Amino acid sequence: MTDQRFVHAQWSSRLAFILAASGSAIGLGNIWKFPYLTGENGGGAFVLVYLLCVAAIGVPIMMAETLLGRRGRQSPINTMLSLAETAKASRLWQYTGWMGVLSSFLILSYYSVIAGWAMAYILKMNSPMFAQISPETALRFFDEFRTDPQIQVIWHSLFMIATIAIVSRGVSAGLEKGTRYLMPALLVMLIVLVGYAIGSEGFGQGVAFLFLPDFSKLSGESVLTAMGQAFFSLGLGMGSIMVYGSYLPRHVSIARSTILVAAADTAVALLAGLAIFPIVFSNHLEPGMGPGLIFQTLPIAFGAMPGGAFFGSLFFVLVFFAALTSSIALIEPTVAWLTENRGLSRGAASAWSGLVCWGLGLGSLLSFSSWSEVTFFGKNLFELLDFLTADIMLPAGGLLVAVFAGWVLNRKDTEEELEMAEPRSYEAWRFLVRYAAPTGMGIIFLKALGGI
Ligand code: PFF
Repeated sequence: MTDQRFVHAQWSSRLAFILAASGSAIGLGNIWKFPYLTGENGGGAFVLVYLLCVAAIGVPIMMAETLLGRRGRQSPINTMLSLAETAKASRLWQYTGWMGVLSSFLILSYYSVIAGWAMAYILKMNSPMFAQISPETALRFFDEFRTDPQIQVIWHSLFMIATIAIVSRGVSAGLEKGTRYLMPALLVMLIVLVGYAIGSEGFGQGVAFLFLPDFSKLSGESVLTAMGQAFFSLGLGMGSIMVYGSYLPRHVSIARSTILVAAADTAVALLAGLAIFPIVFSNHLEPGMGPGLIFQTLPIAFGAMPGGAFFGSLFFVLVFFAALTSSIALIEPTVAWLTENRGLSRGAASAWSGLVCWGLGLGSLLSFSSWSEVTFFGKNLFELLDFLTADIMLPAGGLLVAVFAGWVLNRKDTEEELEMAEPRSYEAWRFLVRYAAPTGMGIIFLKALGGI
């Protein structure tokens, strides 16, 4: 299959792909979700399982998903369909693409609500009440904020408008430009925060919490959560990286690029943990306080720092941008499909998709206030959507991608697409996607269901 088969946009360089894929991977998942899940799931043992999942399952599947995208060169649904037809396999494989589109939609709906919190905190950090703020006031302030639906709707809408504005401008003008400077700036800010945390009295305790595994705290469900978080954080299993792979020029090494992206993603998550847990312990807060964790802890650190209002705002600006580079990846598979199959312009496709996600997001938004009592299987709407997507749909999508790349596509095709210099590296990848990843994921699912 050649690059000319479809008229399709391309990244301008390898670096552009790496930055955009890192932009998709690095987001709220690293700075907001990883710390709070680690807090809720007991620390070190969860982190260890997470790291194992990234290395043994995440990276091979990320390579597989990218290679499928580059081979198919269309939106994920059409890519899966055309690759299945070429391989004389069932047309049902296209539903892997459909599931991806659905899960990215559901994720974006609540992702936008949380990103709205980060946007609101950009302004809030400048308020005088944050100077020397006490832990109690920070907790109370956040509680009042998240239970006010009107304010929440404004920020949620603003975030969605920003997403639509960028995506509608297209691949290179919109997606590439946004990520070039913002990602490095975020890294620098995180390092500054870690510097602050190193000087705090809870640093040792924070490091121990993050890196000393206590396996008695690990349940079947935490292992499933760790795997789901690895998929969520790397942005796998929903077609985003497949569609980014479809814009990848032929000569770029998929293995090297994806390993770099996974390493950067993991480093940012660990740095966020290193910045946050020392503050939690220094202020005698609870690590397991849930989705509000960073909004309740980091303002305390900024409030105590010289120039904290400025650094605090800057930090949340960067979190907002990190969320934006992920949200554009979340909406891109749908936009690509609508432009290919429904003949919509990019602008119209982005606006319609954004509108539907925005409407869905209202449910999650209200689950922090007036709908907090509305539960399904003991979870409110936000928790349910998060569980369904991150813990079930993404790993299931990833598994299908692994099976398709490992078993349905023939060896010659994948070998040609990955073009690894070392034959042993190719064998290792093939073994991981054919046997190790599916078995590992099967065991994790069974364990979570209480089967083993
Ligand atoms: N990886 C993003 C994060 O960690 O915040 C979230 C995400 C983006 C998930 C893109 C999936 C995706 F396709």
